[in-house]
Amino acid sequence: MKNMTRKQFLEAMTVGVAGIMAPGLMTGCSSPGKRHRQNPGPVKILSFGDMHLLDSPSTAYPRKVIQAMNAEGGDLVLACGDLGTDGKRSELELARDVLDELTMPYYPVVGNHDALYTGEQEETLFSEIFSLKQNNYHFVTKGIHFIAIDHGCGKKYRDNSVRPRVMAWIKETLTDIPDDEPMIFFSHYPFAKGITYQTKNAADVQALFKGRKLLAMVGAHFHGNTEQRENGILMTTTACCSGTRGNHDGTKAKGYRVFHIDNQMKITTEFKEVK
Ligand SMILES: [Fe+2]
Repeated sequence: MKNMTRKQFLEAMTVGVAGIMAPGLMTGCSSPGKRHRQNPGPVKILSFGDMHLLDSPSTAYPRKVIQAMNAEGGDLVLACGDLGTDGKRSELELARDVLDELTMPYYPVVGNHDALYTGEQEETLFSEIFSLKQNNYHFVTKGIHFIAIDHGCGKKYRDNSVRPRVMAWIKETLTDIPDDEPMIFFSHYPFAKGITYQTKNAADVQALFKGRKLLAMVGAHFHGNTEQRENGILMTTTACCSGTRGNHDGTKAKGYRVFHIDNQMKITTEFKEVK
């Protein structure tokens, strides 16, 4: 976002439901009757997670990834949490400054290393620094609905169920999205079966999307590449994007992920290593 602060960019992008929504300004969709429906796709989405920034030296590798993503190009970037290490203001501000080097809109979600609380308090520092009205949000790009959640469990990564207030927000948000409109869901924790630290109540969350056009559930936290399909829904995690930490699955490659969605809403994905 050259020559423009993120806040200015978000304000400039508040162009109605047909455009890209500023996360903090689009926390519930307007009613379907009022929405101007877009023809969906094709869309190219980039995602990454787990930068684990601590200080200035720790930005070196993530900055390489940012440069690679800028060269790759795409419609938007999903930043899937663990942007910092201890949820400190200095780390999150550093993360924002690094992400502001992206030339595409980016959308962050809270990871356990971005959290200040061990309880279920709202992580307001994260929303403040990233100019979000709240950490659960919904926006539309090129006819595809994006649903971002903070599980609501703070630092409690071993107890990572989606908390009731977040479940209620998802339910309410879905009431404004017609059944036949495509959606992408993203969060820090993964939902796929068999993945380490799978969301504890993954099945309950997935049940909310039954009969809906959910294309993918995009996650991180695992620090490893996984791609699988459950009931036609693409479920992914991605290797970490960190110079301070390694992958949990023992692999060495780090980088980012690309999703390609064609006009028929067929979604494919590939991992891009950044040395
Ligand atoms: Fe992480």
